[in-house]
Amino acid sequence: LENGLARTPPMGWLAWQRFRCNTDCQNDPNNCISEKLFMQMADIIASEGYLQAGYSMVSLDDCWLARSRDAQGRLQPDPLRFPSGIRALADYMHNRGLTFGIYEDYGNYTCAGYPGILGHLQIDAQTFADWQVDYVKLDGCFSHPADMDRGYPLFGHYLNQTGRPMTYSCSWPVYQIYAGIEPNWTSIINSCNLWRNFDDIQDSWDSVTRIIDYYGDNQDSIVPNAGPGHWNDPDMLIIGNFGLSYEQSKSQMAMWAIFAAPLLMSVDLRTIKPDYKAILLNTAVIAVNQDPLGIQGRRIYKDKGIEIWARPITPVDQNYYSYAIAFLNRRTDGTPSEVSVKPAELGMTYPNGYTVTDLFSGVKYGLVNPKNIFKADVNPSGVVLLRWDLAASHDNEI
Ligand code: DGJ
Repeated sequence: LENGLARTPPMGWLAWQRFRCNTDCQNDPNNCISEKLFMQMADIIASEGYLQAGYSMVSLDDCWLARSRDAQGRLQPDPLRFPSGIRALADYMHNRGLTFGIYEDYGNYTCAGYPGILGHLQIDAQTFADWQVDYVKLDGCFSHPADMDRGYPLFGHYLNQTGRPMTYSCSWPVYQIYAGIEPNWTSIINSCNLWRNFDDIQDSWDSVTRIIDYYGDNQDSIVPNAGPGHWNDPDMLIIGNFGLSYEQSKSQMAMWAIFAAPLLMSVDLRTIKPDYKAILLNTAVIAVNQDPLGIQGRRIYKDKGIEIWARPITPVDQNYYSYAIAFLNRRTDGTPSEVSVKPAELGMTYPNGYTVTDLFSGVKYGLVNPKNIFKADVNPSGVVLLRWDLAASHDNEI
């Protein structure tokens, strides 16, 4: 969507994966979906380095709404859990230099059964603008996937008509794919800043690898759709939760950088352990994710549990790109696997060669010529994420 927003993949915090539809503020006041939770996350994002690293948005997901609309037919939040109202919550974010995201559903109900926007598209778009919302995630439960080709662009039209720029996140393709409908990618790219195309992420390595496989197996139809203003969304980062080891967490972060994916953390930032926080705040990996070219990476090798993924990045020189390269080890045999490649065999043929850096360890390998062999050890269910920057010609003389 060319609305000037999401020129690089959006970064922020989204409630769903970690906090779900916990509405029990009586018994679980610190973890229920309430304004307090979002304010606490905002405070941490603004004060503990996340905002500086690029995570600038905090978003509601399902279960913030009251069970019914107000007397004027407008959406309203649950009065007990959001007593200050949504405008006040948006102000809270804006006062801390953050943007504010909201969740709704194109159908009659949200997936958790709260009022959806069907029949109220225009008034709801205006309500979001009045509340100073910056980002809208529109889910697709309780609607007909065939209607989405009309409905999602129409709601986008009403968002646009408010005059307030809002990033538009669509679940349109995933519901159509489930229904056996081939998505109209041109329309999706023109209407949405990001979109979901596969299953909800769950808190496990199995879930992460199924997403990675889906992106690799379908890359010919997925990859060309990504670019500045319009991104594939493989779903939230689960780093720092219960299901991923340290190695697996680095793997998710690396792969989401290769995918040019939105970086939407869904983790309890009040209790995240420092090692996991450091993964989320790795500026070198984030720089790959946010590379201005916005070209999504591809799986270029897969054999016996070893995968190589490559994403073209800046700097460029004529027809040559720099690359982010991920060696991903899907093996579980308990000992690191050596991966060895010749850049030229991966299609990396820049005559001056490449200066290679490991983005997690920080190790600088120096100059690698296209015909040299490059080797790295990759831990089980781990990754080695490398930057291969085009070398300057004088680098060769060293
Ligand atoms: C389905 C979406 O894909 C999830 O991300 C989440 O928003 C839930 N619905 C909420 O009900």
